[in-house]
Amino acid sequence: MHLTGTQNWAYGKLMKPLFFVADPEKVHDRIIRLGAAIGRSGVARRAASWLFSYQHPALQQTVNGIRFPNPIGLAAGFDKNAELIDVLPSVGFGFMEIGSVTGEPCAGNAKPRLWRLPESRGLVVNYGLKNEGCDAIAARLSGRSYKIPLGTSIAKTNSEKTVRTEDGIADYARAFRAFAEIGDYTTVNISCPNAFGGEPFSDPVRLNALLDALDEIPTNKPVFLKVTPDSGISGLDAALEVASRHRVHGLVISNLTKNRDTDRIAADELKRAGSGGISGKPVETLSSVLIAHARKAAGGRFTIIGVGGIFSAEDAYEKITRGASLVQLITGMIYQGPQLIGEINRGLVRLCERDGFSSISQAVGSRTSR
Ligand SMILES: Cc1cc2nc3c(=O)[nH]c(=O)nc-3n(C[C@H](O)[C@H](O)[C@H](O)COP(=O)(O)O)c2cc1C
Repeated sequence: MHLTGTQNWAYGKLMKPLFFVADPEKVHDRIIRLGAAIGRSGVARRAASWLFSYQHPALQQTVNGIRFPNPIGLAAGFDKNAELIDVLPSVGFGFMEIGSVTGEPCAGNAKPRLWRLPESRGLVVNYGLKNEGCDAIAARLSGRSYKIPLGTSIAKTNSEKTVRTEDGIADYARAFRAFAEIGDYTTVNISCPNAFGGEPFSDPVRLNALLDALDEIPTNKPVFLKVTPDSGISGLDAALEVASRHRVHGLVISNLTKNRDTDRIAADELKRAGSGGISGKPVETLSSVLIAHARKAAGGRFTIIGVGGIFSAEDAYEKITRGASLVQLITGMIYQGPQLIGEINRGLVRLCERDGFSSISQAVGSRTSR
């Protein structure tokens, strides 16, 4: 069943105008409550699946030993406390990343902490790693099975108490240990732009010490490192060099940008927003350039998950052909609606056929290696 045109109209003309006049964080909270309720009802899940989900054999891949039904994942930060894991497969996602989860529960930064940039098609995010903490979230997930692969994003608690390097490492290690046997992969988020003490583990020496500690914690799951878009090629090269000496299987490229001096942001739009990292279209090119570089520099050594400004099948295909095996999004779904996931998957099948690929994995890196 193919209702995408009607769904685009319904979201764009009916729902989005309602959402976009309300406070963004309140809308986010309501969507989480609604999604969790749909997830608890078999009938509602099947209805969502009928409306949104799209499957095709060309979209399936095995990456780092994990079977993905399609390459479109929910990025970290939307389902912070793992409340949507029953509904996300019905929305059509091929995988989901919860968190970021920290060692201690964390209320996050002061409100307001989320703003829309409608002209620039982005968000300003200053949540500051709000989450219920690794113990509560691990308890919610423990012993459960998931319909699609689950990634757990871990970060350092946003607090004065984790500012010393040893304390920060201990905090990451606590969250890493809590999820060592939960889910399918772990992402170590070293690039949250909104936490106390900045991003200390973007520094190669501290990153090396952090990964030394995490290497010691037994787990069978692949480990990914989530990097900033703001340190350029040299910052990425440094992260790749350190990662190559540790149990790191891939990179998530990238997190939010702090760069406000870009023509991707409409003039004056930021005046109405507070401080924070920026998502959506302003990150798109920054992340795509780094994806292509990581693919060229590290070849097949690292799997790449591409994220930043994906609003269409063409945007997703751009990141895939530059070298991302999988992609993730949040902001595109907020601007376009939940039907975007199926629409992207349908479009990816079409783009693969156009370019003579019988499966999405053949498209991965095809543009970078030409
Ligand atoms: C509301 C919001 C909260 C976010 N929180 C996190 C987070 O907790 N951890 C993380 O690694 N990234 C977080 N991010 C960054 C996203 O995972 C992603 O890297 C970024 O938004 C770019 O993707 P997009 O343009 O599709 O939104 C957040 C993004 C948004 C919009």
